[in-house]
Order: sequence, then structure tokens, then C-alpha cells
Amino acid sequence: TTPAPRRRNPVTTAEPVETVDLRAEHLVNDPFTAFAGIRERSPLARGTIPGVEPFWIATRYQDVRTVLGDPRFVNDVASVPGGAPVHRTEQVWRARGMPAECAAYLRAGVFDADGARHRRMRGHVHPSFTAGAVARLRPRIERLAGEHARALRDHADRSGVVDLIAHFAYPLPVTVICELLGIPEADRPQWRAWSSYLGRGAGPGLDEALRGMLVGAHGLVDRRRTEPGDDLVSQLAAAEGDTLDRVEIVSLILNLIVAGHETTATLIGNGTAALLTHPDQLAMVRADPGLLPAAVDELMRWCGPTLGALPRYATEDVTLGDTLIRRGEAVMPILAAANYDPRVFAEPERLDLCRAAAAPHPDAHLGFGHGAHRCLGAALAHEEAVIAFGTLLRAYPQLSLAVGPEAVERGPNPAAWHLAALPVRLG
Ligand code: HEM
Repeated sequence: TTPAPRRRNPVTTAEPVETVDLRAEHLVNDPFTAFAGIRERSPLARGTIPGVEPFWIATRYQDVRTVLGDPRFVNDVASVPGGAPVHRTEQVWRARGMPAECAAYLRAGVFDADGARHRRMRGHVHPSFTAGAVARLRPRIERLAGEHARALRDHADRSGVVDLIAHFAYPLPVTVICELLGIPEADRPQWRAWSSYLGRGAGPGLDEALRGMLVGAHGLVDRRRTEPGDDLVSQLAAAEGDTLDRVEIVSLILNLIVAGHETTATLIGNGTAALLTHPDQLAMVRADPGLLPAAVDELMRWCGPTLGALPRYATEDVTLGDTLIRRGEAVMPILAAANYDPRVFAEPERLDLCRAAAAPHPDAHLGFGHGAHRCLGAALAHEEAVIAFGTLLRAYPQLSLAVGPEAVERGPNPAAWHLAALPVRLG
């Protein structure tokens, strides 16, 4: 008999595999440059985070698409045959201070589901996020954006300087998602605070925010079962005991609030910073606001909020490039590296707001992910960003950065490339 051909597994060859500390300062400060270097040296490297079992990180565009789109990779660790791989996302949350009993809610959500369970869960919320549903929300989002833009004057200091993150980028998306879910207006500041903490915080505050949100979500479902309204929680509550159980409903509510808040706020913040530091590009969209939809696609590529998607688990041995990923191993797709892959994007470091308009597939960037788990809220987030930039630029023709680009303060969460503050001068 002929022996089976041996595939190269860098773990067992003499050639060491590059190990990347995902909390390293240079990576947190400038992830796009740091990941680009890794992508060219080691398309499959080993990622480490304190308190979490190491995992592969995939950085090339094609590999990232494969990991996100190939059914041999799954989100739910429990569905990997013949073993019990470690749940990396849960470890990250536990390392940040998530209490053990909250893990059930983490696992019950849409992010952790595959196949039929994933389709069932997603099917319950998908109708609220289609292009048509988003088009119906447009007038409301425009009104809210206008109100928040006008209120910036009230928050500005005497020289007309205001923090755009706190007073515009943050309040807009959270108000939209709270309205969609049917969270009463009086409760929204509390939900906003919890959600921000989940996006950014760690330790006992995280524990408190999570517990608060869980109690809040259960309360909301109870209320909508007896007093249904024209909102998404009422629809989910109506399916309780039939096609959804309570833990799944609460998990979906948490998924939506958390996934739709920090990320969209970050796109508005990062995007505004990018526009204000690229005067030629800014002049172009000011002259022709019709460019904004394509501009948002390019901003998603160039400074997209989500650096890495969730880890995927190999259900069998899979070879990516010349690296063998063994069954049960985890691979985290690094979207920020794929979106700067020169094999797909010419001169990737250049911000070119017309790039997407000129490309055969404007959605070529992977900032919203790819495959079955591609962002449910992509159309909504895109629309919110188009409206936010358009409203802001119209309201403030002289808008400019109030600090040098180097002084724009980045937030502490390396998984989400966000600004802690963005002081702008309204003019
Ligand atoms: C999934 C990014 C806004 C809800 C995802 C994924 C990415 C992403 C990369 C895929 C994660 C993975 O495959 O591991 C973003 C960005 C946003 C944004 C960058 C803003 C600019 C929103 C909004 C909502 C939302 C506004 C809803 C209100 C979701 C949900 C999923 C998801 C529920 C999970 C889908 C599934 O597992 O089937 N998002 N998102 N996102 N996003 Fe978004």
C-alpha cells in the first residue's frame, strides 16, 4: 500500500508559526498596518489573548472568505464531531468578567447557531432588517439624525467644540434599535449605558451590566406578552413556546442591541474622522452627496469597526493555503486584514470614496462578514451611516477636527477599532 501523502502542518514542522498577541500595543494602536504585515509574513498565524486558548488567525481575503463561507467551518463548538473544543468567545467574555450563568444566553443567540437552528433564529428577526424594512425606517432615521445634529450646538463649548462620539455617533443608532425593539423611551438611557458597557467595559461593571440587561430583557418580554405593540419584541414574544424559547428570545434581544449599537456608532465616528482628515475626499462628497452610499462602503473597508469576526471551528481537517487546520481547531477571520489585501484591493491604504462605485461588486469588502452569518443589520447600519454623514455635512458646512489627527483618542477595546472621543469644531 502507498502511504497517504503528508500535508504540511506548521505546528509540527521545524518552521515556527508566528504567534500574535492580539492585545499587543502596536496592534491595538494601528491594527490595519500590523495585520497587513502578518498577512504577508504568515497568512495563518497563531493568535493569543490572555486567558484564552490560542487559535488560528486568517488574514488573507480568500482565506477569510473560505472560513466564513465554507460549511466545514461552524460557529457552534458543540457541533464539532468527536471532541469538545474550547469555546473561545466564551473564554474572552469570561476573561472580561462575564459570570458563568450568563454563558447560556451567549450560546443561545444567533451568533452561536448553525444550520437549521440558525435559520430558525435568524428568520424571526430578518424581516425587520431587509432593504424594504430599512427604506420604511428612513424618514424616522432622518428626523432623529436632524435632531441630534441640531442638538450638537447645545452641547458645544463656547468655542463651538463638541465631542461627536458622545453627542451624535452614539445616541443615533441606539435610539433606532431601541425603537425597533420597542424599548420604552424612559428605559433607553439605562439600556444605552448597559450596552456601552458590554461594548467596552470589563470586570464587575460588566457583570452588573449583563445582569441588568438580562433582567431588563425578561421584563420587556413579559410586558409585550400581555401588552403587545407594533415592535420586534412583541413579535418575538408572540413566538414564545412555539418556535422560540425564552432564553433564545432574550439572547436575540441582547444580540441586536449589542451588535447594532457600538458598531454603528463606531462607523459614524471612524468615518467622520476619516472624512475630516481627507479634505479632497470630503470635498467630493460635499459636492455630490449622491456619492455617500458608495463612500460608506469604502469607509467600511478602510476603517470598519469590526476587526475580527467570531472564531469558526473546523468540523474536519481543512487545508488553508499550505496550513492544515485540524478538526476542532478555531480560526478567527481577521476582517481588517482581508479588507487591506492588495490581491483584491489596489493600493489598499488609500481612502478612495469612489472605489466601491467603480468596483464590479460594491460589497467586496468583508466589514459586515460573509456567508450565513453576514451582518443581519448591514442594510440598516449602511443607511444610518449615509443619513448621519449627509445630515452632519449639510448642517455644518465648516465642520473640522478640533484636535490634530494624532490626538484623536482610541478606545481600549482592541476587537472594535473605535474612538473614545472625537472633538470637532462646528464652525
Ligand atoms: C453579524 C458587523 C451593525 C446585527 C455581524 C458580523 C459582522 C458585523 C462582521 C458577522 C460576525 C461573524 O460572522 O462572526 C457589523 C458592523 C456594523 C453592524 C461593522 C455597523 C457598522 C449591525 C446592526 C445590527 C446588527 C445595526 C442590528 C440591529 C447583527 C447580527 C449579527 C451580525 C444579529 C449576527 C448574524 C448571524 O449570526 O446570523 N455584524 N454589524 N449589526 N450583526 Fe452586525
